[in-house]
Amino acid sequence: MAEPAKKGLEGIVVAESKTSLVNGQDGKLVYQGYSIETLAENALFEEVAFLLWNERLPNRAELENLRAAIAAEAALPDLIVAQLKAYPKQADPMAVLRTAVSALALVDADSEDNSMEANRRKAVRLTGQITTICAAWNRIRQGQEPVAPRKDLNLAQNFMYMLTGNEPDPVASAAINTYLVLLAEHGMNASTFASRVTVATGSDMHSGVVSGIGTLKGPAHGGANAEAMRMFLEIGEPANVPNWFKTNIKEGDRRIMGIGHRIYKALDPRAAILERHAEALAKSSGNEKWFQIAKQLAEAARADEYFIERRLYPNVDYYSAILLYTIDIDVDMFTPLFAMSRIAGWTAHIIEQFANNRLIRPDVNYTGPMGLQWVAIDQR
Ligand code: ACO
Repeated sequence: MAEPAKKGLEGIVVAESKTSLVNGQDGKLVYQGYSIETLAENALFEEVAFLLWNERLPNRAELENLRAAIAAEAALPDLIVAQLKAYPKQADPMAVLRTAVSALALVDADSEDNSMEANRRKAVRLTGQITTICAAWNRIRQGQEPVAPRKDLNLAQNFMYMLTGNEPDPVASAAINTYLVLLAEHGMNASTFASRVTVATGSDMHSGVVSGIGTLKGPAHGGANAEAMRMFLEIGEPANVPNWFKTNIKEGDRRIMGIGHRIYKALDPRAAILERHAEALAKSSGNEKWFQIAKQLAEAARADEYFIERRLYPNVDYYSAILLYTIDIDVDMFTPLFAMSRIAGWTAHIIEQFANNRLIRPDVNYTGPMGLQWVAIDQR
C-alpha cells in the first residue's frame, strides 16, 4: 500500500541547508547563525548577501568590494534596455522581470557555466541587474528614460536613485535596505524550492532564478504584498474595518492577504519588525491611515476564534505593503522588490544545491483508471 500523498508537501524535509533556520513554532528566523532582529538593526543588504554566499560576515574591505561589484554589474546590457522599451507598457512587472532575467542569460558569458566561480559571479551580477530592471521598468512604462546605476551607491540607494532620477532620499533608502535584509532568505519557501528543483537537473542559474521569479509571483507567496495593499485600499478608512471583516471574511469566503503562513504558527518575526518600521514611517509621513487600517484588521483577526484556532498571524507581506506604499512605491512593484531581495537567497541555495547535487524527483500515487480497452476514434 503506497504512502498517502502529503498535500502541499507539508512537513517534508527536502534538503540539508546552512542558509537559514525558520522556527515556525516560536516565530524565529536566523540567517547563517544571526537572528533576523540583529541583521535588520545593523546590516546593509550587501552584508547579508555576502553572509548568505560565503557563510560568514565580510570585513570592511570585502563589503566595499561586494558593494562596488554589485553596483558595477547593475548596468544592463543594451539588448535588455531595448527589450524593456519594446514590452507592452501594461505588462505585469513580475512577468517583465521573469522575461528580462531569462533574456539576460542570452548575453551573459557565464550563462552555461555551472562552476562555483561562475555561479558566484552570476549571483553578484543578477543581484545588481534585477535591481536595475525593477527601477528601469517602472520608468519605461511611464514613458521615462531609464536611469543608469551609480558606482558609488549601495543597492538600496541605487534603487531609489534609478527609480526617481534624484539623489536618493535617506529615509526611503533606509526603509528599502531594511526591507531587503528582511526578505533575503527564508528556508525552503516555494520559490527557493522551485529554483533548486530547476538547477538540480543540471540546468543553469538563470533558469533557476526564472523559476523562482515565476513561483514568487503567485498571491499565496510573494504576490501577497500587493494583494494586501489592494485590500487595504479597498477598505479605504479605518472605520470601515469591522464591516469589511464581517462581510468579506466572516460571511464571505475571502482570505486576509498577508495573514497566515505554512511554517509560522506564531507571529512572523519579520512582520513584528516591519510593523514598527511601517508605523514610524507612517507617522513621519503625516499619513497614518493605511497603517491604522492594517493594524485594526490584524487586531480583528487576532480576536477572532477562527484565526486563533488556526494560529493565523500577519506574515512578512502584511506590513511590508504599508512600508512600501508609504515611500511611494507603486503597488504592482511590491513583488518585484521582493525578488530584488530574494535573489540573494535563491542564488545562495542554487550554489548550495550545485555543491551537493542530486536530481529532485518526488513520486506520485496514481489514482486513474487501469486496463481500459482501446476504442477506435470514430467509435468514441
Ligand atoms: N485568511 C483566512 N483564512 C486563512 C488564511 C487567511 N489569510 N490563511 C489560511 N487560512 C485558513 C484556511 O482557510 C484553512 O482553514 P481550514 O482549515 O478551515 O480549511 C487554514 O487556515 C489553513 O490554510 P491552508 O491554506 O491549508 O494553509 P497553507 O499552509 O496551505 O497556506 C498560506 C499558507 C498560503 C500563506 C495561507 O495562509 C494564505 O493563503 N494566506 C494569504 C496569502 C499570503 O499572505 N501569502 C503570503 C505568505 S508569506 C510569503 O510567501 C512570503
